[in-house]
Amino acid sequence: MNNCKLYLAPMEEVTTYVFRQVLDECFGGVDKYYTPFISPDQNKILKTRMGRELDPEHNKNLNTAIQVLTNNPEHFKDFSKIVSDLGYKEVNLNIGCPSGTVVKKNKGSGMLRDLYSLERFLDEIFKNKSDDLEISVKTRIGIDESDDVSEILEIYNQFPISELIVHPRYQKQFYNSKVDLEAFKYIYNNAKMPVGYNGDIKTKDDFVHLVNQFPKVSSVMIGRGCVTEPRLFSFIKNDIDAGYNIEDKKVIRKFHDKLLDYYVTEYGPNDSVFKMKEFWSYYILNPLFKGKDLKPIRKAKTLSEYKSGIREIFYE
Ligand SMILES: Cc1cc2nc3c(=O)[nH]c(=O)nc-3n(C[C@H](O)[C@H](O)[C@H](O)COP(=O)(O)O)c2cc1C
Repeated sequence: MNNCKLYLAPMEEVTTYVFRQVLDECFGGVDKYYTPFISPDQNKILKTRMGRELDPEHNKNLNTAIQVLTNNPEHFKDFSKIVSDLGYKEVNLNIGCPSGTVVKKNKGSGMLRDLYSLERFLDEIFKNKSDDLEISVKTRIGIDESDDVSEILEIYNQFPISELIVHPRYQKQFYNSKVDLEAFKYIYNNAKMPVGYNGDIKTKDDFVHLVNQFPKVSSVMIGRGCVTEPRLFSFIKNDIDAGYNIEDKKVIRKFHDKLLDYYVTEYGPNDSVFKMKEFWSYYILNPLFKGKDLKPIRKAKTLSEYKSGIREIFYE
């Protein structure tokens, strides 16, 4: 493999510290983990659900970057101080979230609506920066096709952003329709900082294809593909082809059971059932579960109903 690093993408409610720990224990292969976004404009952030992601105990032995969602430079600076004091090396600014409620507040990819404000924000957070906390950015390529990616890059290029991780979709595309590799290519060729890629990498072959096209890409960040196939990073790292036989099912079952146990310990039985159900909308896309019906899992309300649903889906 070239020098390209592998990152786990932040996914709210999905790639939680529980998921990250279990993934690392079972399969590894991830060079850096990104927390789902944390909004710092709340009091006593460390006590909130989002704040639990920050707890160094929950990120022990993992290389973790903390993602922040804000358009307020003071909140960003105060939060960065907390992040740095807790011993983290990188804060990642979310300029990608496409959700309507976030964009309405000019946060996430909503920051791309007004490039003048974006420039002022970046200017504020980089001005007189005294700590050595790295600031990376995860960005989309605009709001819709009328946006010009060269104008966005011109802003980013003015600042010492440690890495620019690009999800080459417009806000209006949410997570669907084709990624725009031409726009990515423009950024790849013209950015002054290292450029990482994110979007639709679902197999080792997808990764190889991408890196062959963009050999100097600094990182590839993977989200949904890894939730569907938690061995994906290790397949890429170790150049292993995916297998889909009964032994593979056992390996995934072990991972699943570990995740469930950890959730039960952290959140109690009922919340765990709710959280585990989230994962199944991704797992079900794994060829291991082809043709399986999720009904027994969807219907489950208690831990024992969930466990019997699992037995059905894994072994019948
Ligand atoms: C349910 C869900 C939650 C997400 N939460 C975040 C988030 O907190 N921060 C972020 O930057 N991106 C978030 N994303 C976007 C992912 O990080 C990633 O950019 C996107 O899924 C595309 O990459 P993929 O095709 O590898 O999944 C989320 C995506 C999904 C589907």
